[in-house]
Parts: sequence; structure tokens; C-alpha cells
Amino acid sequence: MDKGKPQLPIKRPRFDNPTMSIRGPIPNGPMHPRPLVALLDGRDCSVEMPILKDVATVAFCDAQSTTEIHEKVLNEAVGALMWHSITLRKEDLEKFKSLRVIVRVGSGHDNVDIKAAGELGIAVCNVPGYGVEEVADSTICLVLNLYRRTYWLANALKEGKKISGPEGLKEAATGSARIRGDTLGIVGLGRIGTAVALRAKVFGFNVIFYDPYLPDGIEKSLGITRVYTLQDLLFQSDCVSLHCNLNEHNHHLINDYTIKQMRPGAFLVNTARGGLVDEHALAAALKDGRIRASALDVHENEPFSFTNSPLKDCPNVLCTPHSAFFSDQSVTELREMAAGEIRRAIVGRIPDSLRNCVNKEYFTAAYPADGMNGSGYPYNPMNVHSTTIDPHPGAHVTPHSTLGDANHLSKPESSEVDMTSNMKR
Ligand SMILES: NC(=O)c1ccc[n+]([C@@H]2O[C@H](COP(=O)([O-])OP(=O)(O)OC[C@H]3O[C@@H](n4cnc5c(N)ncnc54)[C@H](O)[C@@H]3O)[C@@H](O)[C@H]2O)c1
Repeated sequence: MDKGKPQLPIKRPRFDNPTMSIRGPIPNGPMHPRPLVALLDGRDCSVEMPILKDVATVAFCDAQSTTEIHEKVLNEAVGALMWHSITLRKEDLEKFKSLRVIVRVGSGHDNVDIKAAGELGIAVCNVPGYGVEEVADSTICLVLNLYRRTYWLANALKEGKKISGPEGLKEAATGSARIRGDTLGIVGLGRIGTAVALRAKVFGFNVIFYDPYLPDGIEKSLGITRVYTLQDLLFQSDCVSLHCNLNEHNHHLINDYTIKQMRPGAFLVNTARGGLVDEHALAAALKDGRIRASALDVHENEPFSFTNSPLKDCPNVLCTPHSAFFSDQSVTELREMAAGEIRRAIVGRIPDSLRNCVNKEYFTAAYPADGMNGSGYPYNPMNVHSTTIDPHPGAHVTPHSTLGDANHLSKPESSEVDMTSNMKR
């Protein structure tokens, strides 16, 4: 492209039905110098603000659904940050009239219809790497609890039980098992599955995995064993750990039928997504001992409560509140990375400047790359300013002229806007 000429940021019409687009063409020239970015399902923008305040007005909505999102955000927000407590289906996405980029503050993006978003000209990004170590460590912690029964033994003491003598210990600790030599079956050998495999080997597990989407060879790099069907994995594993992303093909991957393919008395761990497991089938299998014990960080209905769960009467289940990713460090890193991606969208070009766009295939089929505030600006080194608030220096693919206003940096206006209940429709 000729960098000396301003880019004409006009969207190509959709190939299938150009009239279906709800977004008009981007006007020539810069749009609002501080476009509106909204955190949809939270209030705290303290980490994001320093990264965004010189290029965006940041609002927070604290909404559970799009019916709770203020009209102004629906009409004007060009960027959205979202945790996992709100879901954006096609009909929700269509309510946003100016939206150009959504950044999931997390790695799973099963709560956004990424195809519909792409077709509407909205790039969807995630933050894939922030908590890999935490989730892998939490998974191993859950696996160890199932094998060593630490959680149940500690609870027994806390409840006042006195455990003495070999008989007492046998009664309390029954079900504890030796790890070395057992087979851990990993479903989904992505970032987290791989990190779990590496850790599990050290404990003496024989590690096998099933992942139909990977080319051959990774098993040799990691020194683990690959199986090519889920049935094989379930048949061979003493402990099954789920690490695949939830998609339209694997809802209730673990169900009554597949549980019957597991070894009698096997363990099941899920730190991936609740929708992968049919909890009614799991509860039945836990009650009749087909599954010896299970540890779940993610649940079919979140926030999880035992009261309304089919698992409420199962003694051999350990549940945590979708917290496997959490550490003070990982959450700060996550929020910085999410805000950094929004910043790249504002000062750069969509989707070229984005690091983790997950719907590029749908997006670029319908829309060419452009900036969301007219940022197909010609490169001008005089406009490039370094700033200490960016956690990822050098990340800006396209230096942007709004940073050229030194006042924005030296005297940033506070631009966080509360768009919660009192302003809700
Ligand atoms: N509990 C938490 O706090 C937490 C935090 C982060 C991520 N997660 C979840 O962990 C999971 C893994 O995350 P990741 O970053 O490793 O993802 P990833 O995309 O790196 O890996 C997922 C892997 O699963 C494989 N896969 C997809 N469908 C499969 C199927 N039906 N059978 C077998 N393999 C399949 C893919 O090929 C891919 O290799 C995701 O579900 C994510 O949402 C949970």
C-alpha cells in the first residue's frame, strides 16, 4: 500500500447480502479522537485505564446481558472488553451499531458467536497465554487431591473427626491411590493440555492424549503417547483430564455413553469448560462408583452452586468456582494484555494490528483491514511517542497520530464513565 496517501477506509460490501450489514461504511478521515470502549460485564477498569485513557473513553456497564447495556454503549462503543459472565449471540451483536472489536478478557471465547461477529465486521480477540501455568498447576492440584484425598482428609479433621490407628486411617483415607504408573489421559493438547502433560510426567504418570486437530509429531517432542479416538483414551486412562475448547462439536463430550467407555473407578477432572460434561450423567456415575471421584473447576451453570446442581448429593466430588486461572499476577497480566489488544485496535489496523484475533477468517472474508478511528494514517515518525503506560512496548504495529498530542500523555483526562444501573435503559 502507498503509505504516502491516506487510506480510504471503506468496507467492502458483504459478498452474500450487502444489505444485511448494520454497520455503515467508515467515514473518511479520523473518527472521534477518543472512541468509546466499554467493559461490558464488570466495573473495575483500574488496570485498563492507564493503558487506554490517552486513546479512548472507557465506560463500564456491569451487565449480565445486552438488555442491561446502556443505549450509548450500544450505539457508540467501538471496542468492548468482556469477561465470561455475559454471552453475545448474533442477536446481541446486532444491537451494537458501531462495534469494531471485542476482546475477551480470558482465553475461551465460547460465549461469543465469533462467526456472526466476523460477518458483522466485528473482530473478536482473546488473551490466550495469561494463565496457562495457573490452570495447569490447578489441574495438577486437583489430580493430586483425587489421588491423595488431601481435601477430604483435611475436611474430616476440620469437622472434628479423630482418625487413629491403621483401621481408622484406612477408613478415612480409603480410595487414596498411587500415581506412579497410572495413565493420565489428556483430551485436548493445546497450551494448557501440554503444560499439564509436562507436569504429570514428573509425577510418574504415563501420559496419553487425544486431539484430532493436531498434526503428527507433537507426541515425540513431548515424549507422551498419542491415541486417535476418544474411545481409546477413555478405555486406557485411570484419570481423564479435559483441556479442549468447547465448540459446536463437543458439547457433552463426557456423557452417559462415553462414561461407560471409561475404566471402572477412573477419575475425571475438568478445568476446561462446563459444557463438556453432562453433569446429570456424571452425578449418576459418581453415585454408583463407575467414576471414583471427580474434580471440576468449571460447570454447566456458572456461577456454580451445589444447591441447584445434580452433583449436590455426590460425596466424591470436589468443585472450585472457575478459579483455576486465578493468581494476582495472572489476572493483572490478563487485563493488561486485553487492554493492550484494544489499544492496538484503536491505534492500528483491524485485524492486521491485532495479536490474537480468533475470527479473522470470517472477518476478512467480509471486511478489509482498517483502523477504528481512521487510523490508516500515513506513518509519521514525529508522531511516535513512547509511553510508560504500555505494558508491551513496541507492540504498536502502526504508530498513530492521536499519540502525537503530548497533552494527552502529560495531562490525561480521566475518561472512565459509569454506564451501570442508574443509566440502564
Ligand atoms: N478454568 C479456567 O480458569 C480456564 C482458564 C483458561 C482456559 N480455560 C479453558 O481451558 C481449555 C484449554 O485452553 P487452551 O488455552 O489450552 O486452549 P487451546 O486452544 O490452546 O487448546 C485446545 C485444544 O483442544 C483441542 N480440541 C478441540 N476440540 C477437541 C476435541 N473434541 N477433542 C480433543 N481435542 C480437542 C484443540 O485442537 C486444541 O489443541 C479451554 O476450554 C479454555 O476455555 C479454563
